[in-house]
Amino acid sequence: MNDLSPLVQEARADFEQATAPADLENAKARYLGKTGRITEQLKALGALSPDDKKARGALINAAKQQIEAALNARRDALADAELQTQLKSEALDVTLPGRKRGAGGGLHPISRARERIEAIFGSMGFDVADGPEIETDWYSFTALNNPENHPARSMQDTFYVDIKDAHGAYLNLRPHTSPMQVRYAQAHARRYAGQATMPDIRVIVPGRTYRVDSDATHSPMFHQVEGLWIGENVSFKDLKVMYLEFIQAFFETTELKLRFRPSYFPFTEPSAEIDIMFERGPLEGRWLEVSGSGQVHPNVVRNMGLDPERYVGFAFGSGIDRLAMLRYGISDLRAFFEGDLRFLAQFN
Ligand code: PHE
Repeated sequence: MNDLSPLVQEARADFEQATAPADLENAKARYLGKTGRITEQLKALGALSPDDKKARGALINAAKQQIEAALNARRDALADAELQTQLKSEALDVTLPGRKRGAGGGLHPISRARERIEAIFGSMGFDVADGPEIETDWYSFTALNNPENHPARSMQDTFYVDIKDAHGAYLNLRPHTSPMQVRYAQAHARRYAGQATMPDIRVIVPGRTYRVDSDATHSPMFHQVEGLWIGENVSFKDLKVMYLEFIQAFFETTELKLRFRPSYFPFTEPSAEIDIMFERGPLEGRWLEVSGSGQVHPNVVRNMGLDPERYVGFAFGSGIDRLAMLRYGISDLRAFFEGDLRFLAQFN
């Protein structure tokens, strides 16, 4: 009976040679496959006597087990090697500096402009107030001296909400920030009611406003900042001085001119559009409208709960989007509201 240990040795060496799983499977077939060397030995058993068959069979099985053990050991070794190479190629250098997340966002140019406006008026002693975007007919129109049939109330200009207020009038999406003139002044007047004197009302109200309007310079949702200054000694001169100071601070230049052009608003008398003109730069020499303004109408002062014989003042309403467009040199208002990151990221 020939010794099987050389065959086992041979198989071991053969398996060691295999460096890839496929090679190893081929090597396995040479010993354990259908025509493999061990299989061949087992087939040959049939020709032996029962006793020899038993002894020989035990030897072959022992050899087979050794070969299988060698095969499994090699399989594990190859899998382990493969894992090691994979780990090496995917290794993380934990000592490298961390990757930063994308720029992470920033303030919208309109928000930047609004914050600038708030800071400038804040430094001039103005309060900053906020008001409802869904308004009543009274605050948006009636309290502001709008006659019942004024075109501003029409569906062509104002968005209405399908909800009625206590007086049976539909609510509206405020078409301007002016309703806050009356809301703010009423609260102020109530607070100082019965006292000998009342501090001046000095407030700005930046916020969203809505009108049925849409083109390169108009958006159905836009932003205004209302300004109101009311006291016993306030005049149009104060408006001019204050607005010039604001606009110079906003554009960071004294090289611009201001012009008050007669206009009409039901809630101011007299009324004026405020135009500005840059004396330098790309917009040089052109008058640009930036605000409505005027002395608050006595009827409006009365609706504020104040005596128009004693209190006078002025109001203005400027377009924040318009100011931002001029400051950043943007010609199409819609760019502000499209949400294109390539546009927005430039401001941060
Ligand atoms: N509310 C006016 C508008 O939206 C602007 C304005 C405000 C005019 C205050 C005068 C005084 O056009």
